[in-house]
Amino acid sequence: MREVVAIDGPSGAGKSTVARAVARALGWTYVDTGAMYRAVGLKADRLGVPLDDDPALEELCRHTRIEFRRDEAGEPRVFLDGEDVTQAIREHRVSDLASRVSARRPVREAMGRYQRRLGEEAPSVLEGRDIGTVIFPDARVKVFLTASPEERARRRTEELERRGQPLPYEEVLRDILARDANDSSRAHAPLRPASDAVVLDTTGLGPGEVVARIVALVRGAGPSADPMPPGRDAVTRRPG
Ligand code: DC
Repeated sequence: MREVVAIDGPSGAGKSTVARAVARALGWTYVDTGAMYRAVGLKADRLGVPLDDDPALEELCRHTRIEFRRDEAGEPRVFLDGEDVTQAIREHRVSDLASRVSARRPVREAMGRYQRRLGEEAPSVLEGRDIGTVIFPDARVKVFLTASPEERARRRTEELERRGQPLPYEEVLRDILARDANDSSRAHAPLRPASDAVVLDTTGLGPGEVVARIVALVRGAGPSADPMPPGRDAVTRRPG
């Protein structure tokens, strides 16, 4: 079984906060796959590459370097061709660019190859939309995080406010519903839980509870848990 925790789900379900904390708790590498699609969307937009031009996007991906590094405080930072784009890729308009390029097959193939390489290099926690279904179907633990659209819109509105880019709640909710529809209905790797994923609804749950649940799943799903040693809590084992 692959030393990978796959954390998938729609935007605003709390994936980033949870995935980072799980990686920290386990001492594993954290990989934000959404940041890759955001970086590609940003670059395509800057270069004026049409977001549905597959040959041009394939070429663009071939000449794009996306790196994850940590700053002095240990916070993850994203670099696009050597430029720190950690802030730029979080702008509201980049969410739409990312959603559009992420529907294109050559982009998914290039990013998928990169994600597999990272996950094979070191034990990793990958957050995204298709990690458990497509990228690492053999992940040690698969979690699908959800929350009601209203709760996700509320969290996202607060986050934008904190960043000094406030938007009305109604507009954020509308965008979330549109992106959900886009991400779930696309032909390539649509958003859906893997059949063996643990589905966690985080509506009304604090991140601490969710992180503890996932860490327990990982510790319960290791080779040492099979056969289960005495005293281990069976509830923490992954079903199936
Ligand atoms: O998680 P996020 O909001 O940063 O993701 C940005 C976009 O990329 C979003 O529209 C979904 C898409 N995405 C994807 O298709 N596959 C992934 N593994 C991660 C993100």
